[in-house]
Amino acid sequence: MNTREIFLQHVAQTSPASLAFEIERAECATLFDVKGNAYIDLIGGISVANMGHGHPKILAAIREQLDKYLHVMVYGEFVQSPQVRYAQRLCSLLPSTLNSVYFTNSGAEAVEGAMKLAKRYTNRTRIISFQGSYHGSTQGALSVIGDEYWRQAFRPLLPDVWHLRYNDPAAIDAIDETTACVLLETVQAESGILVPDAGWLKALEKKCRATGTLLMLDEIQVGFGRTGKCWAFEWFDIVPDVLLLAKALGGGLPLGAFVADKKLMDQLTDAPVLGHITTFGGHPLSCAAGLAALDALVEERWIDTVKEKEAIFRMQLQHPAIKSIRSFGLWMAVEFSDAETCKRVIDYCLTVTPQDPTGLMTDWFLFAPHCLRIAPPLIISEAQIKLACERILKAIDQSKL
Ligand SMILES: Cc1ncc(COP(=O)(O)O)c(C=O)c1O
Repeated sequence: MNTREIFLQHVAQTSPASLAFEIERAECATLFDVKGNAYIDLIGGISVANMGHGHPKILAAIREQLDKYLHVMVYGEFVQSPQVRYAQRLCSLLPSTLNSVYFTNSGAEAVEGAMKLAKRYTNRTRIISFQGSYHGSTQGALSVIGDEYWRQAFRPLLPDVWHLRYNDPAAIDAIDETTACVLLETVQAESGILVPDAGWLKALEKKCRATGTLLMLDEIQVGFGRTGKCWAFEWFDIVPDVLLLAKALGGGLPLGAFVADKKLMDQLTDAPVLGHITTFGGHPLSCAAGLAALDALVEERWIDTVKEKEAIFRMQLQHPAIKSIRSFGLWMAVEFSDAETCKRVIDYCLTVTPQDPTGLMTDWFLFAPHCLRIAPPLIISEAQIKLACERILKAIDQSKL
């Protein structure tokens, strides 16, 4: 069996049609397969590689930590400088009420921990989340995602979860003194980049404050500069009680976090003590890599390039087959009439021929399979954007044949 066949046989599969792309190496915004073919990376491992692949500062930070220690103790017991320095740096970029960071292994675990914190803090059970939202695949996170197709096979899930309509004023009326938390993506990702009205988010924040309900914003996919500001909530003039982070947080290594005010977070120290336990959460290598990635993002001023790059994509991607482009920074959903067309375009982009030697790695959205995902590393060059757009337009024309 070759490596691909062994992958299909021995690495558990979750789809009848995985990409099975055989990766050899990755550099900046380019992926290379085992045959040496290059592909422009338009998805960055699904919004993880914001600083691209192999950023020298991230690699140096990993190497430096590698020589000191790896895992030494479960979360929260030892003073580990990569965690300490990263928590401090994150808090320095956040509003003053977001000053305590709980590091987890993943986004879903951040969601789990945050929901526990909300129940513990408010002594309430009801969780309001939204149709079309994605928050992860563990059972708690699955309970709050907004699509019945993905939930149904795994019941019973968490009780007392209300799935309301995103951006709907009626959702605000539903929040009351029995609601523990309202959990939402600041901008919905997997529904194909749905941006809510600023007034709706502001009213949501106000109602949460009035009823003692925790406002929890999931910025796991949207965070770290992708929208043209460090955090998406900055666009809407709101501040969450709890902020959820993951994906780009670890600079390419696994890491998640929920961030809140210390007096809120301290609830996890009492009744029960060790209110959330994790062995590997906040791994020193992940924290060292994440801190280096965040420093590079800020110091190299990549966030300032986002809006211009978004505009180039939007200007270049014009074709009668494209129904719309929904975007919010370097994060866009290119909408086709149906999922089959989108799939054909994605497949064609991946095809490398002597005439088209540079491939394109892209994807669709979980709840919007008719939309093509564009969420490249923020370091993608303008020349690569233009090349990628040419390739997409060609794919639309060629894949019809
Ligand atoms: C918005 C959002 N929340 C939560 C998650 C779950 O993160 P993880 O896959 O690290 O568990 C994801 C993952 O795609 C996500 O996009």
